[in-house]
Amino acid sequence: VAAEKGGYEHFMLKEIHEQPKAIQDTLTGRISEDGKHVVFNELDWDQNYANSINQIHIVACGTSWHAGLVGKAVIEKLTRIPVNVEIASEYRYADPIVSKDTLIVVITQSGETADTMAALREMKKRGNRVLAITNVVGSSAAREADDVLFTWAGPEISVASTKAYTTQLIVFYLFALFLAEKRNTCDSQTIADIVAALRQLPELAEKSLESAPIVQQFAQQYADKEDAFFIGRGLDFSVSLEGSLKLKEISYIHAEAYAAGELKHGTLALIVEGIPVIALATQTHLLEKTISNIVEVKARDAFVLALAWEDDTQVESTVDEVIRLPRTLDFLAPVVTVIPLQLLAYYASVARGNDVDKPRNLAKSVTVE
Ligand code: G6P
Repeated sequence: VAAEKGGYEHFMLKEIHEQPKAIQDTLTGRISEDGKHVVFNELDWDQNYANSINQIHIVACGTSWHAGLVGKAVIEKLTRIPVNVEIASEYRYADPIVSKDTLIVVITQSGETADTMAALREMKKRGNRVLAITNVVGSSAAREADDVLFTWAGPEISVASTKAYTTQLIVFYLFALFLAEKRNTCDSQTIADIVAALRQLPELAEKSLESAPIVQQFAQQYADKEDAFFIGRGLDFSVSLEGSLKLKEISYIHAEAYAAGELKHGTLALIVEGIPVIALATQTHLLEKTISNIVEVKARDAFVLALAWEDDTQVESTVDEVIRLPRTLDFLAPVVTVIPLQLLAYYASVARGNDVDKPRNLAKSVTVE
């Protein structure tokens, strides 16, 4: 087993470090030679079909559901197709409102999650086209869906998902660009710029891993706390949910993610002296608003760790500690932001002496309801 861990103490740490390669492998073969377009040889969709889609339902569980939240923002921004993101165990019993032009996207690392598969089967039975995004070739999702896009993360062993999530994000970016091109909802320069930025991500993910020492120190300092809060707006909120889930799953610290603007509607009552608040502040158009929320929690003496761009000049002065993220487009921020949050959960779990790769009560793949 030690050999399988490639010199790392746990699978999770190994898998966190495999992200630059996993991202690269997921991009490979999906960008045109001139570097300006997305090519999905696996989707034989003509323009007519692409144009006929009038809404998208993304259905998933756990971390895959969190990737879906980013997927919604990305697809809506580039294509203006309305997207719902649904929890599979709810969706399968919800008698969802769809038409024949609703595309169902199921997203599942394992391709075997019972609720996600039940949703896939139910929607196929209703005659809807189902696209699966999965990491496992030959999985039930890959076999049963009408179309499949693979994430090429390689085997993920640790129960807490890391590289599967980042590669799911990559597939959503590529898919949104692919649809935008087919439907003509984005000019070619914008598409080329995003594609160019996507190609930088393996290198930036590598740089994001350099946050480990600061993250480790913070995790050790706060490992005995029973609560932590994550705040952010827009895409930062979606990533906050994933950061909070990671911490909960493996460190057993109660963690809550809140849309920063919603804090004052309840959660602010729980902010007391010394409570760790992790503030995600990458969305430039929302930065002033996020900073005003940071000021609110600082006024209650929380300890604020912020995640901000390396060139940030505004966030630093309002917080206790900053993790500087390698610069990419705000739109692609989730890919570099989630990495320090994964490391935070990892180091907190180690500091508490937990079984990192096999957290209590949880399974890698939930194949029963
Ligand atoms: C379990 C795992 C999670 C995973 C979720 C969905 O809860 O512990 O890491 O995100 O299932 O799994 P899937 O394979 O469908 O993505």
